[in-house]
Amino acid sequence: MQLSVLSLFIGLATQASALCSRTELQEITDAYIKAQVAGQPNLLPLADSISYFENDTLKDIAMGILVEPVTIDFNRSLYDTTQCATYTEVTAATNDHPYVISTRMLLTEGKISKIESAISDDGDWIFNATSFLSWTKRENWDPIPENKRDSRSVIKAAGDAYLDSWTNGSVKVPYGTPCARLEGGIYTGERNLTTNSCTMPVFPINFTITNRRYVIDPELGGLAIFNDFPFIDTTKPEGTPSTNFFRIEGGKIRYIHENTVCTAYNCGR
Ligand SMILES: *[C@@H]1O[C@H](CO)[C@@H](O)[C@H](O)[C@H]1NC(C)=O
Ligand SMILES: *[C@@H]1O[C@H](CO)[C@@H](O)[C@H](O)[C@H]1NC(C)=O
Ligand SMILES: *[C@@H]1O[C@H](CO)[C@@H](O)[C@H](O)[C@H]1NC(C)=O
Ligand SMILES: *[C@@H]1O[C@H](CO)[C@@H](O)[C@H](O)[C@H]1NC(C)=O
Ligand SMILES: *[C@@H]1O[C@H](CO)[C@@H](O)[C@H](O)[C@H]1NC(C)=O
Ligand SMILES: *[C@@H]1O[C@H](CO)[C@@H](O)[C@H](O)[C@H]1NC(C)=O
Repeated sequence: MQLSVLSLFIGLATQASALCSRTELQEITDAYIKAQVAGQPNLLPLADSISYFENDTLKDIAMGILVEPVTIDFNRSLYDTTQCATYTEVTAATNDHPYVISTRMLLTEGKISKIESAISDDGDWIFNATSFLSWTKRENWDPIPENKRDSRSVIKAAGDAYLDSWTNGSVKVPYGTPCARLEGGIYTGERNLTTNSCTMPVFPINFTITNRRYVIDPELGGLAIFNDFPFIDTTKPEGTPSTNFFRIEGGKIRYIHENTVCTAYNCGR
């Protein structure tokens, strides 16, 4: 009885401020995982006007990866109660066809109105799902104690600074010590887990990372930025689908996962 009154209250408060509850978003990511494991997108509460994108291309969901049953070894999600958005990173290393899938979902009135996934497999940027799995599992993404949480703007600024610094050497990135980056199958912390191995050099060319789409979760210190990464894919220099997924602690970057899709084998490099 008390619980249902509480959920009613949360429901009303949610409507009033157009926010989503964490629980509601958790149910959505749970359903997403179940749908992908079963290969049944109809397990998801989809809005009639759902827009579904894979690798930045609009698709019919019934023709997409969600109709393919996938063995999932590991998954990690963020819950953005302000934007009513979720982020899920799926590692499917022992699936017959290994994948790493980064998915952002938007919720409108309890239904999923948008799904966009960057789906990498063999031939994508330094792809190795076995290695990705072993490193992501070792990382600690426990909730941040309430009195130590960063604001949404601090979290977002840290990720933006990282992306901006690739072409602007004047941008200061708040790297933590330690900081490690999982990029395809490569882990920069492999040799030394206690140091900052995230620092990126400045690319010797001029580009801007555009079309940034965010999911921000202060409770997990989490940030995902979907973006178009120019230059890296020689056959798609205008920008290829990419995600950067951050853990931020005390304003400093602790982990970065990059998942980048290539049109040519290893982006033609
Ligand atoms: C997905 O992650 C959740 C939370 O860690 C876990 O409980 C669940 O078992 C995972 N599902 C799969 C299919 O691995
Ligand atoms: C992928 O990573 C695993 C674990 O690090 C390694 O054993 C394997 O050789 C790698 N595969 C390729 C094709 O490099
Ligand atoms: C480079 O970064 C600095 C420091 O944030 C900023 O003042 C400057 O406008 C940036 N330059 C460009 C070309 O964006
Ligand atoms: C790791 O890096 C730290 C900081 O640079 C250094 O003090 C430490 O000796 C290194 N550890 C190893 C095993 O190389
Ligand atoms: C890079 O391009 C931007 C926009 O075209 C321009 O404002 C900036 O000055 C350029 N920076 C360099 C270092 O060439
Ligand atoms: C995009 O996603 C699909 C999954 O449907 C995958 O098979 C494909 O290789 C990916 N890459 C590109 C460049 O489209």
